[in-house]
Amino acid sequence: MRVHLDHNATTPIRPEALEVLCELSRRLAGNPSSVHAAGREARGWLDEARERTAAALGCHEDEVVFTSGGTESIQLALAGAVRAGGPGRGLVTCAVEHSAVLAAADRLEREGRPVVRLPVDGTGRVSVDALEAALTPATALVSIQTANNELGTLQPVVEIGELLARRGRGRPAFHTDAVQALGRIPLRAIRERADLLSFSAHKVGGPTGVGVLVRRTGLTLEPLLGTGSQEGGLRPGTESVAAIAAAAVAIELAVREQGDYAARSARLCRSLWEQLTACIPGVLLNGPDLDAPRLPNTLNVSLPGVEGRTLVARLDLEGLEASAGSACASGSLEPSHVLLALGHASERARAALRLSFGRMGGEEDVHNTVEILRRTISAPR
Ligand SMILES: Cc1ncc(COP(=O)(O)O)c(C=O)c1O
Repeated sequence: MRVHLDHNATTPIRPEALEVLCELSRRLAGNPSSVHAAGREARGWLDEARERTAAALGCHEDEVVFTSGGTESIQLALAGAVRAGGPGRGLVTCAVEHSAVLAAADRLEREGRPVVRLPVDGTGRVSVDALEAALTPATALVSIQTANNELGTLQPVVEIGELLARRGRGRPAFHTDAVQALGRIPLRAIRERADLLSFSAHKVGGPTGVGVLVRRTGLTLEPLLGTGSQEGGLRPGTESVAAIAAAAVAIELAVREQGDYAARSARLCRSLWEQLTACIPGVLLNGPDLDAPRLPNTLNVSLPGVEGRTLVARLDLEGLEASAGSACASGSLEPSHVLLALGHASERARAALRLSFGRMGGEEDVHNTVEILRRTISAPR
């Protein structure tokens, strides 16, 4: 029996979403921009998916932009808002963002725009005061993630939204990468304070290849790819209606079941941590304390004397699927930029292992994980 504790990388598609994906892939024959009956049927499903997504996320349907995933939502938000801000305007973000944000920031910097990457404290949080001090008239956008994918750290995004709102007309826009937060923590307060929010369907039991960008009405974005009439002129290309409809179902269910998932996975994380500390001397917790506000399903530990990426391969042979950092950086030999940003030595950063529970996790996963880890670590290498 394999244990998959890598749900922050991706999580299996939910049966309800799979059913919609298969049914509509079989049934739909039209392009949603076509005026004939087949096109109108596809348009109907697309409109319904937009309404359901908007209702689940607590926004207006005109504010929902469907994209190809979290990465594209983020690129559109960052490049789109900063470029729309005019020449010389730039970005304030932070050092522990996902590589999608950091890559967009690098690209904006290469365009000659000012980019500030704020440091974080030992748990991965940015300081709101430091952020305020970094704002200048050139700041077009602030982008700070809601929850960190490697550590589970929650950023003070409600406070940041309020700080920016107090600056009134001409203030920087506020984007938050909420990809890991959806379905795991309540998002309404954050949604009300951010101008742009990025989401990804495959993190909540939807299909891969569908993302959502929520864009506050009236906020101008420069499209990434020329012009086209789809998605309010922001994203040219025929919409993947079956996948979008399946994503909407998954998002709706993730929001509805958030409380249960959070409670169950928080219990499992605590149990896993307690058992690890009992049987692996010197194990260290990376990121926030288990009693602090955090993503409920994510545990990041450093196991003394091991190299996380080698350990992941050995654990895989033993039947445990985990990760040494974000899935996107798994091929890299460099220690995680997130662990290094906490101020940890390279040795501790290299020894990091991320374990992330899905909505179906149970106590047997904890038991099997501890057994596999104990066996693997004590085995001669
Ligand atoms: C915090 C965060 N942002 C963005 C992404 C990118 O999302 P996608 O895989 O849909 O492009 C991920 C995926 O790992 C993530 O964890």
